Order: sequence, then C-alpha cells, then structure tokens
Amino acid sequence: MLTFVLICCISCCVVVGQQLSDTTDGIPLTRSTGCVFVAHQGGYVCVCNGTVKGENCDRNGSANSQWLINTNQRKERRRKRIRREKNGTEPLGKDNVRLAGTGSGRTQGRVEVQIQGVWGTICDDDFDSRDARVLCRMLGLNTTYARAHGGAWFGEGNETMPIWLSNLWCEGDESSISDCNNGIIPANGITNCYHSRDAGISCETEPLGKDDVRLTGTGSGRTQGRVEVQIQGVWSTICDDGFDTREARVLCRMLGLNTTYAWAYGDARFGEGNSTMPIWLANLRCEGGESSISECDQDAISAGDFGYCDHSRDAGISCETEPLGKAHVRLAGTGSSHTQGRVEVQIMGTWGTVCDYNNNFGISDAMVFCRMLGLNTTSASVYTVARFGQGNSTMLIWIGNMQCEGSEFSISDCYHETILATYCDHSMDAGISCETGKN
Ligand SMILES: *[C@@H]1O[C@H](CO)[C@@H](O)[C@H](O)[C@H]1NC(C)=O
Ligand SMILES: *[C@@H]1O[C@H](CO)[C@@H](O)[C@H](O)[C@H]1NC(C)=O
Ligand SMILES: *[C@@H]1O[C@H](CO)[C@@H](O)[C@H](O)[C@H]1NC(C)=O
Ligand SMILES: *[C@@H]1O[C@H](CO)[C@@H](O)[C@H](O)[C@H]1NC(C)=O
Ligand SMILES: *[C@@H]1O[C@H](CO)[C@@H](O)[C@H](O)[C@H]1NC(C)=O
Ligand SMILES: *[C@@H]1O[C@H](CO)[C@@H](O)[C@H](O)[C@H]1NC(C)=O
Ligand SMILES: *[C@@H]1O[C@H](CO)[C@@H](O)[C@H](O)[C@H]1NC(C)=O
Ligand SMILES: *[C@@H]1O[C@H](CO)[C@@H](O)[C@H](O)[C@H]1NC(C)=O
Ligand SMILES: *[C@@H]1O[C@H](CO)[C@@H](O)[C@H](O)[C@H]1NC(C)=O
Repeated sequence: MLTFVLICCISCCVVVGQQLSDTTDGIPLTRSTGCVFVAHQGGYVCVCNGTVKGENCDRNGSANSQWLINTNQRKERRRKRIRREKNGTEPLGKDNVRLAGTGSGRTQGRVEVQIQGVWGTICDDDFDSRDARVLCRMLGLNTTYARAHGGAWFGEGNETMPIWLSNLWCEGDESSISDCNNGIIPANGITNCYHSRDAGISCETEPLGKDDVRLTGTGSGRTQGRVEVQIQGVWSTICDDGFDTREARVLCRMLGLNTTYAWAYGDARFGEGNSTMPIWLANLRCEGGESSISECDQDAISAGDFGYCDHSRDAGISCETEPLGKAHVRLAGTGSSHTQGRVEVQIMGTWGTVCDYNNNFGISDAMVFCRMLGLNTTSASVYTVARFGQGNSTMLIWIGNMQCEGSEFSISDCYHETILATYCDHSMDAGISCETGKN
C-alpha cells in the first residue's frame, strides 16, 4: 500500500510516496532536491544535504520533521508513542468537556477538556472528524456531520491553560475520548504544541450543500476551477493532500454537475486562493458516492507556520461529460515510435506527462493508453524512469498514481490522484510500449 509522507528538512519540504514495507535501516527510499529519505529504526529520517538531522523537527528549521500524511499510518505511529505514556487519568465524561472561544456556540467551538480539575485544550495534531464525532457525542450533540477544526479557528485558549491532549486516535463511535488511544489519556499535558493549534469542533445537523461550494480561479469555468467551500460564512480552499477523483466526484455532485469523468487537480492548477482565505479541508476521505463532503471524514488542518499546507496546493476539479479520447494522448521522446514512447496527455489544451512514482504506473494503466491510441493492448508494457527522455521543463505533470483496471476505454475512467509536483518530477515520466509479439 502506498502512503504519502511530508518530510521537512532544514531547507526543503517534500511529499514522497513510498512502500511502507521498505523499512530496512539505512535504505535510502527517495531523493528530492537536498533531501534523502532513509529508513531508521522502524521510522524514517530525512537526511538533508548529506547530514543526518534526526527524527523530530519543525518548520523553524531547527531539525527535521515528518508527518505521515496518510492518516491511518500517521495515527498508527502516534498511537505507539502514546501507548508508552506511563501515567493516566480518570475516564472523561460529559462534565469534563466544553465548547469555548470566539464565534463558538452551543454546537461549535474550541474544545476544552477538564483533567484533574484543570481545563485545558487539545492540540490539532492528528485531530480529525472521527475525534470530533466522539466529542460531539460526549456533549450530547448530533454527530452526523461532525467536523474538526484546527489552527485555533475558534481562538486560542488562555495561555495559562495546559494543552492536555494531542494525537487523539478515535474511531468515531466511542462514547468518550477516554476510550480512544487505548484508554490512556496522558496526565502531564503536551509541551510540543501551541495554543495557535487548539482544536475545535462543530456538531452540525445539516451537511454542506450546493450554495457552499463554488469554482473559481484562472481558467475556471462553470464546470472546472479551484474549489472553494463556505464554512460558517467564510470561503476557504481545500488542500490537495489526499485529493483524488473520489473527492472530485462528490464535489461535482454537490455542484449539480456530471460526475462521470470528474477529474482532480492539485498544486493550485487554477491559481492560488486569496492569501487571506483559510484552507479548511485536507485529507478528505470520500468514497465518491456521498452527496456532500460533510459525509466524508476530514482532517483538522492547520495551515501556516506549523501546518502542512498552503495555497500553492489548492485543489481544483473539472466535471467533464466527455472522456479524454485518442486526440488527447500521444507518444513522444527519444527513441519513441508509433507504438512506444513517453506518454503525454493533453488536458485543458496543455500537454503534460504521467508520473510513475516508485513504479506505480502499471501494465493495466499502459493497456488503457494503448487502447486509446488504437494499438494492441495484449503486449502492453511499461518503461520507467523516463526511458524515453524527460518531458521538457515547461511541461506539466498531469497525472499521478493512476489505478486503471485495464479494460477502461479512457484514462478518464481510471482513478487517479492529484499530482503533487513536490513528489514527482520529469525523471519519473512514464513510458509505454504497445508492440505486438513482445512480452
Ligand atoms: C548542499 O548545500 C550546498 C551549500 O548550501 C549547496 O551548494 C548544494 O547545492 C547542496 N546540495 C544539495 C544536494 O542540495
Ligand atoms: C520556532 O521559532 C520561534 C522563534 O524563534 C520559537 O519561539 C519557537 O519556540 C520555535 N518553535 C519550535 C517548535 O521550536
Ligand atoms: C501519576 O500522576 C499522579 C497524579 O498526578 C502523581 O501523583 C504520580 O506521581 C504520577 N506517577 C507517575 C509515574 O508519573
Ligand atoms: C486566564 O485564565 C486565568 C485562570 O482562569 C485567569 O485568571 C485569567 O484572567 C485568564 N486570562 C485571560 C487573558 O483570559
Ligand atoms: C442528527 O442529524 C441528522 C441529520 O439532520 C438526523 O437525521 C438525525 O436524526 C440526528 N440525530 C440525532 C440523534 O438527533
Ligand atoms: C482577498 O480577500 C479579501 C477579503 O475578501 C479582499 O478584501 C481582498 O481584496 C482579496 N485580495 C485579493 C488579492 O483578491
Ligand atoms: C453524465 O455524462 C455521461 C457521459 O456523457 C452521461 O452518460 C450521463 O447521462 C451524464 N449524467 C448526467 C446525470 O447528466
Ligand atoms: C516543450 O514542449 C512543448 C510541448 O511539446 C513545446 O511547445 C515547447 O516548445 C518545448 N520547449 C522546449 C524548450 O523545448
Ligand atoms: C495483439 O497482439 C497479439 C500478440 O501478438 C495477437 O495475438 C493479437 O491478435 C493482437 N490483437 C489485435 C487486435 O491485433
């Protein structure tokens, strides 16, 4: 299974995808400018510019840091750490939770928990809608569209307040947060977080609807653009982290548009949202059939200094009614021919390449390209590491993590992920061969 990891070194932050099974110590897993990512004692360290900088760091650049973006993986790691906490507290009940802060109300606000008689806050690290559901339940509120908020959206807790908890790891159906994290609530508070990251929740009874979504940005139109979502009267963008065709389908549906060939875009393909705009949503975990993104799980993102997203990663969608056809694919590059070459795709009038990160571009993906090109699919094969040369630097990388079944008529029918330029470059351009009589 592929997971994605954001690594921060002194001078660089990269997102990489990698097989979690590759955890043999000392094995370099990937490289990007200035950073090499190396397995180390069951975790990973980022080696910057030839110097090992250790496992923990922050964006200040004092050392290295890493956040596993895939939430489950991330929480798996965190849980192990919390399990080692020695001291616990009494189980928390309804009277130990309250909502506070600016703009808060009966059903939304900054979460405060009372431990050992002292009210404190929760760090938004790992905080997501599953944790929010449990907190809404504790408060006797509706859990259906519980949403998690990060980055002290409802204001920062009083600075004399402790930050009691971090890295909550709830499934969503627990009756108390004391049932999460193996029932262990550390009693000593959290020292590596800040009130600027206080977690909040809203326990809504209504899902976000058509009027809460709009498409904007350069090159946008009625059916495509940067996605902006209105929450509590404020328009925000979506981080492309974990953004793929499934989220795009739900958003197209919300907009009343055709979902059949919904396409997901990352890296602010339609321009960056206004810098004063918050980035509300990240790691949406939709199945694709939901009628609102309120039904999808979601991370409490904190953007900015200690967050992991910014507007250069604003997500966009297009809600097409036509699949890409023969005219939208071609083979190019050195040594290319009628039947083999670097795969190029034309989207919105611009040619780009396909990312083959970690050999995740497979034969079934190649088969669909061969079919689109009107070539024989039986002997479709894949060429990695830009075998046919790299697309030139002005060329976009349009598609990442393709997952075709092999029988599709167009790549528009295949699942794909929003491509992050940060983990892909033209040295990973995918190539194919559709030659007959070849294995
Ligand atoms: C390492 O740092 C030096 C000095 O800052 C820089 O010139 C060099 O390009 C860096 N190397 C890599 C691989 O980033
Ligand atoms: C980041 O730098 C600021 C200013 O130097 C400092 O106050 C803060 O504690 C640092 N953050 C971390 C996580 O070390
Ligand atoms: C656990 O917490 C209690 C109450 O705060 C304290 O008296 C005790 O010393 C703590 N034990 C450890 C091992 O930290
Ligand atoms: C913070 O909380 C303490 C203790 O409840 C209180 O005395 C103080 O006035 C509060 N400060 C602010 C700025 O609200
Ligand atoms: C929560 O809200 C949903 C949607 O409005 C509603 O169907 C459900 O009955 C509510 N649940 C409770 C326990 O009130
Ligand atoms: C950004 O949004 C704010 C608030 O809506 C607005 O006042 C400002 O003009 C916008 N800035 C740009 C560059 O669009
Ligand atoms: C969406 O587009 C597809 C393909 O053009 C078409 O078959 C389908 O009927 C459309 N669905 C809706 C709801 O318009
Ligand atoms: C890069 O590729 C594009 C598309 O094929 C082409 O229009 C452009 O001239 C190329 N630029 C260079 C520098 O080769
Ligand atoms: C494709 O190639 C295979 C193997 O050479 C051959 O058996 C098959 O007939 C070809 N199919 C078509 C449609 O040309």
